[in-house]
Amino acid sequence: MTSKFKSVPVKSSEITPYSVYLSRREFLKAAGIVSGSALLAACAPSVTDSAVPESEAPVAASELVDELGDPANTFEDITNYNNYYEFTTDKEGVARLAQKFTPKPWTVEVYGLVNKPKTYDIEDLLSRFTQEERIYRLRCVEAWSMVIPWTGFTLASLLKEVEPTSAAKYVRFETVYRPEEMPGQKSRFYPWPYQEGLRLDEAMHDLTILATGLYGEPMPNQNGAPIRLVVPWKYGFKSIKSVVKIELVAEQPATLWNTVAPNEYGFYSNVNPEVPHPRWSQATERRIGEFGRRETLMFNGYAEEVAHLYDGMDLSVYY
Ligand code: MTE
Repeated sequence: MTSKFKSVPVKSSEITPYSVYLSRREFLKAAGIVSGSALLAACAPSVTDSAVPESEAPVAASELVDELGDPANTFEDITNYNNYYEFTTDKEGVARLAQKFTPKPWTVEVYGLVNKPKTYDIEDLLSRFTQEERIYRLRCVEAWSMVIPWTGFTLASLLKEVEPTSAAKYVRFETVYRPEEMPGQKSRFYPWPYQEGLRLDEAMHDLTILATGLYGEPMPNQNGAPIRLVVPWKYGFKSIKSVVKIELVAEQPATLWNTVAPNEYGFYSNVNPEVPHPRWSQATERRIGEFGRRETLMFNGYAEEVAHLYDGMDLSVYY
């Protein structure tokens, strides 16, 4: 863990399961203290009823904030507005189509330029690596964003175990290929399986995690069950879902979006308000659940932690 880290890591013992938020919410509703939606509203003022002791004040999802003070989106938002093209390109249709997906049993194969290749069961990954909560902004290349309380572990901790060789320079990730469960994979328009890649130093950065859940619950199918990458300073499409393969390689790997539209989606795809997408500006974004737009931050607000990775690179060329 670097000392610069500012994104509120939380020990697994302190993670509040979503069921606890919900049960407190039910209790408070039953007690007539708040309406459900007010409780989860991002900026709801704290309860003014002085009859409610401090310790009984509602613990709303809004108490989860990122390090900039912005509240987490609701579980409902995060699980009902998804990009997961293996199911459908309709963001509000993913949740329903993903219900039949079977995330267990699951293995992740870590191989390539490593001394100790290994195939991990998901149970292995959950017990072997300390699961912590990371409250991160997710900024989609389509110019919307959310704040998501992930649980997971650093990709670095996994990579260290397999010992990349000195020839390894990049990491390639692959999503499961199961057209019988993922109707979108029958579309020949995309070169399935979905693939993504990082430079090795990006992969080893402490902000880069393999997420296994959100709001203290196992990862919902529509968010990439049972395990997905999260790289918070890059556009959301880099954060590949339902990962089955992690390969250490010498050359920059092909990625799905870079293959489909190389002039629109670069390999790096760091969030950058100054470099517009060829078809729209990236200067502002719509935070789901908010009115109006907010300014997009360089590296999605993580510049202090990651800008040094790109010293000497012209970020308008390596977009
Ligand atoms: N991973 C796979 N395998 N397939 C996808 O379609 N969509 C990406 C990324 N990972 C995608 C994927 C995009 S464009 C975004 S914005 C995020 O997932 C969305 O993650 P969320 O649905 O959990 O918010």
